[in-house]
Amino acid sequence: MNQSLEKNIVLNNGIEMPILGLGIYAPGEKNEVRRAVNWAIEAGYRLIDTASVYKNEEEVGQGIKDSGISRDELFITSKVWDDQQGYESTLRAFEQSLERLQTDYLDLYLVHWPVSETRRETWLALEKLYSDKRVRAIGVSNYYESHLDELLGYASVTPAVNQFEQSPFLYLPDLLSYCKEKGIQPEGYAPLVRGLQHKNSVLMAVAENHGKSTYQVLIRWALQHGIVTIPKSTNQERIKANFDVWDFAITDAEMDQLNKLDAGIRVANDPRDY
Ligand SMILES: NC(=O)c1ccc[n+]([C@@H]2O[C@H](COP(=O)([O-])OP(=O)(O)OC[C@H]3O[C@@H](n4cnc5c(N)ncnc54)[C@H](OP(=O)(O)O)[C@@H]3O)[C@@H](O)[C@H]2O)c1
Repeated sequence: MNQSLEKNIVLNNGIEMPILGLGIYAPGEKNEVRRAVNWAIEAGYRLIDTASVYKNEEEVGQGIKDSGISRDELFITSKVWDDQQGYESTLRAFEQSLERLQTDYLDLYLVHWPVSETRRETWLALEKLYSDKRVRAIGVSNYYESHLDELLGYASVTPAVNQFEQSPFLYLPDLLSYCKEKGIQPEGYAPLVRGLQHKNSVLMAVAENHGKSTYQVLIRWALQHGIVTIPKSTNQERIKANFDVWDFAITDAEMDQLNKLDAGIRVANDPRDY
């Protein structure tokens, strides 16, 4: 049983990334994201996951400014959206994200989805940004084995991270093993299944055994699999609760039970049909 967990993992290029962060997909009302980012930093989060398509990079930048934290203590991820893919347009999209976030570098920049016509040129643009030291690590999102096989055929830089949907209800051991074998860190999105499974009886029993919520169990499940995870909340109490997962450990038997909940349940598109 993995009782104690490191709060950072080391990526394939040697840089450290927090294993638990704030996902901030939320169009939301004005200043909602700004406040959430500030509360998250106050609660101890150091990884913030945004994307140009979330239309909240300005507020993420403002929330970071409000917190007063120094930039080098944070790990900021953004992503290039589908309609900005391509070589030159990705380079432009990156600069626009930096401007909105009020920063002069990113920690991680991802290809948001594997758009078949443009993903190759987009990846080459990310390699250029990486070699120019504008970003500390580059990676992909929503890439399954066939997308990664193709990418590794032309890439000079192996993606440091692959961010894809993961939870006990969408447990993908083959893709996890593939990533591990290639040195690509898996990062899971929608770890809480957007609240849709929080009353599942197996999940509730595990939560009760540890005096934790089902949401905290879902986060801990990802961490114990070595998956970087980014639960989203804009509520201060829930932001705090989602970070309060370091003082318990799911047992091996419980992990097996949770793994068996897999039923292919997803909240986002299946990348294989994208
Ligand atoms: N790469 C991609 O294609 C992709 C796709 C989807 C998501 N993502 C990333 O992954 C992040 C997380 O995924 P997600 O936002 O789709 O879903 P999620 O994190 O599984 O669920 C978020 C939902 O759960 C609620 N919630 C959070 N903590 C809770 C708690 N402790 N108790 C009760 N309810 C709680 C939130 O509401 P409140 O805010 O009201 O608390 C929100 O409605 C996104 O924000 C984004 O950064 C990436």
